[in-house]
Amino acid sequence: MNAPEERKPARSTAAFDFTSRQPRILMCPPDHYGILYEINPWMSRQKQADPALVASQWESLRRLIEQVGARVLLLDAVSGLPDLVFTANAAMIYRDRAVLARFRYPERQGEEACDEAWLTASGFTVDKLPVGVYFEGAGDALFCGDTLFAGYRIRSDVAGHQQIGVMFSCRVIPLELVDPYYYHLDTCFCPLSPGMAIYYPGAFDDYGRRALAESVEELIAVSSNEARRFACNAVVVGRSVITNTECPELHRALEARGFSTFETPLGEFVKAGGSAKCLTLRLDGEDAAAWRG
Ligand code: ARG
Repeated sequence: MNAPEERKPARSTAAFDFTSRQPRILMCPPDHYGILYEINPWMSRQKQADPALVASQWESLRRLIEQVGARVLLLDAVSGLPDLVFTANAAMIYRDRAVLARFRYPERQGEEACDEAWLTASGFTVDKLPVGVYFEGAGDALFCGDTLFAGYRIRSDVAGHQQIGVMFSCRVIPLELVDPYYYHLDTCFCPLSPGMAIYYPGAFDDYGRRALAESVEELIAVSSNEARRFACNAVVVGRSVITNTECPELHRALEARGFSTFETPLGEFVKAGGSAKCLTLRLDGEDAAAWRG
């Protein structure tokens, strides 16, 4: 054992362990969640969330994520920021760097300071896009292999995605989102492994569908019914895939390809236009497998 004076000084914050191979996921407890405003077609203040159900649905998702082998880290909830629970939007993670969100709607802009504080304290280098360039983090920017698929128009701007491509020297495939119900890319596209992804064709135009077909070898299409159940908004940890309930066709398609599927009710979050994936941010990067080898 080292003598006390030889020990490294204790850190004031629990820094993120960039060398760990365990998948790490950031979540935010739904203590201040609710439908306080309407910024997408799913949201209606007339259809409030039930606080007890909200708490139990979120807790079940968290337990399931831990059960499939990921470690969950927590961002503190903040009063007046009901959508902070959707940590997917906080930033886009690339290795030890985080490109911070710039939210389009003023209702969510207060989240940026909370996200930045957490990421900085955890040891990430935080990059910011220029003021006026909207970017909603991993909600709109997802790696499939080493290619970044980037949704734009409804929330994020295409200019931001191009800058991210330059910053990280990666190939970017911009995908225009054409259906207001699928306003973030993670509501209609979900990478499963390099060369394989889930998608909802109706959320893209012909050009986007062609770009996807040309750049992803195996695309699993979901039906409009299951897309509305947020089938594409899945949490993927290795070969385990977690979705909202009632996505049986997708689950069958995944099982046929060797994935283990899990469902957990997330209806209270669908009221805000989110589901499993939106409630999580993969901190070791969507491309983790690729860069760790
Ligand atoms: N109410 C939130 C919004 O409209 C939901 C965000 C869902 N997040 C996601 N990554 N799709 O911004």
